[in-house]
Amino acid sequence: MSKEIKIFSPATVANVACGFDVLGFCLDTIGDNMVIRKTEEKGIRITKIVGHDLPYEVEKNVAGVSALAMSEDLKPDCGFEIEIYKNIKPGSGIGSSSASAAGSVYGMNELLGKPLDKIKLTYYAMKGEAVASQCEHADNLAPAIFGGFTLVKSACPLHVLELPTPSNLYATLIHPQIEIKTSESRAILPKDIPLQNAITQWANVGSLVHALHTSDYDLIKNALNDVVIEPFRKQLIPNFDNIKSAAIDTGALGCAISGSGPSIFALSHGEVTAKKVEEAMQNVYSKTNIEFETYVSKINTEGIKTL
Ligand code: HSE
Repeated sequence: MSKEIKIFSPATVANVACGFDVLGFCLDTIGDNMVIRKTEEKGIRITKIVGHDLPYEVEKNVAGVSALAMSEDLKPDCGFEIEIYKNIKPGSGIGSSSASAAGSVYGMNELLGKPLDKIKLTYYAMKGEAVASQCEHADNLAPAIFGGFTLVKSACPLHVLELPTPSNLYATLIHPQIEIKTSESRAILPKDIPLQNAITQWANVGSLVHALHTSDYDLIKNALNDVVIEPFRKQLIPNFDNIKSAAIDTGALGCAISGSGPSIFALSHGEVTAKKVEEAMQNVYSKTNIEFETYVSKINTEGIKTL
């Protein structure tokens, strides 16, 4: 059995407008690379981090915490070294911490001969994710590990539903280069919501799930609305309303905050529209002095993978 594995751990979009903390989908043009290596010496060590300034202490690093949780339960007859080549900027809203947390446990599981299924991997990865967001949720982890669209039916006990991906659905993302910490972006949310907003939101979630099952692009468009979270969080993202109008005017099915922001995503029917939406988003942000990056990605139905 191999002693070392190189993996691609993808970026993800959580919430998908109406599905706060439950819906997510997986991207394929952006993600981290990681190398996981078996060692004779037991324990977990982070030996290399390239790209961003993250802690090497295992207990403070999300990849380390998820690896420790898995290792403490499985008690393997070996240890592991982790190298992280971080392309997803922390605090970007596209699942940076989830990619790290999922990557270590996925790699260890492969090297151990796959004793764990995807649900168990998600469970251990949640322990790492909790370090970053100060709560255990799996709406970035599930799509990273399962691929495609996922719905987290419950976090405890962990129950993940895999949803179908319409074949011609593309995502466009803009990542303004400001950092929003998930914990802070959660702290500004109200504890209670008006009943009418809850009714609108769960109607949208149900409709979106149905639309994914039936590849009904008109219904996707109709359902991609968030009346619960976006009104509070959008104030953290400069030009959010302008980006959203530009995306929708250019033909996007919908546009909303990616995870806890600052990234903003749009979904489009077809790559041509998704690229036009990218240009429209670039036009809006070019007029500001905030640096940004944009991406167009097909929905990644495979998820995390060995390279
Ligand atoms: N569902 C989470 C949130 C995703 O929006 O706070 C970010 O980790």
